[in-house]
Amino acid sequence: MPYVEWCEMFSIHVPDIDRQHTRLLEIANEFHAALKANRARQTLFDILNSLIRYAEEHFRDEEKAMEAAGYPEEDLLAHRALHEQLYDDIYRLHGEFQEAREKTIHDVELFLNNWLIKHILLEDKKLSPYSEMLRKKAREGRLHR
Ligand SMILES: [Fe+2]
Ligand SMILES: [Fe+2]
Repeated sequence: MPYVEWCEMFSIHVPDIDRQHTRLLEIANEFHAALKANRARQTLFDILNSLIRYAEEHFRDEEKAMEAAGYPEEDLLAHRALHEQLYDDIYRLHGEFQEAREKTIHDVELFLNNWLIKHILLEDKKLSPYSEMLRKKAREGRLHR
């Protein structure tokens, strides 16, 4: 059973962003499963690296969507700062794995809860009220992504 399953609760009703969040949850599940199954260190690193790479792409796209939606400047800046923090956090986790510091499945669950799940549910959700406008722009081909 996957650690976290996509459900309606996660949706912010912007299809591109929902698709990326689904993929992020999938990679997070792969990481969780690999750790639980005591997979080789290299496997854990490969998954962690793909999580970092995909998160980088996602943060960029999400910030672009917020800009395109006319998200208030102050909120956009605050969200950018949160993404930077998330980036620092996952790098720290990467470093801890590199130093072979003992990480339990519980540590990783706590990390994923705070790093990914809470961020989507509490912060990315704030984009929801702009979703109709974004879908309209996408239909009109006005999103330069
Ligand atoms: Fe975000
Ligand atoms: Fe996001």
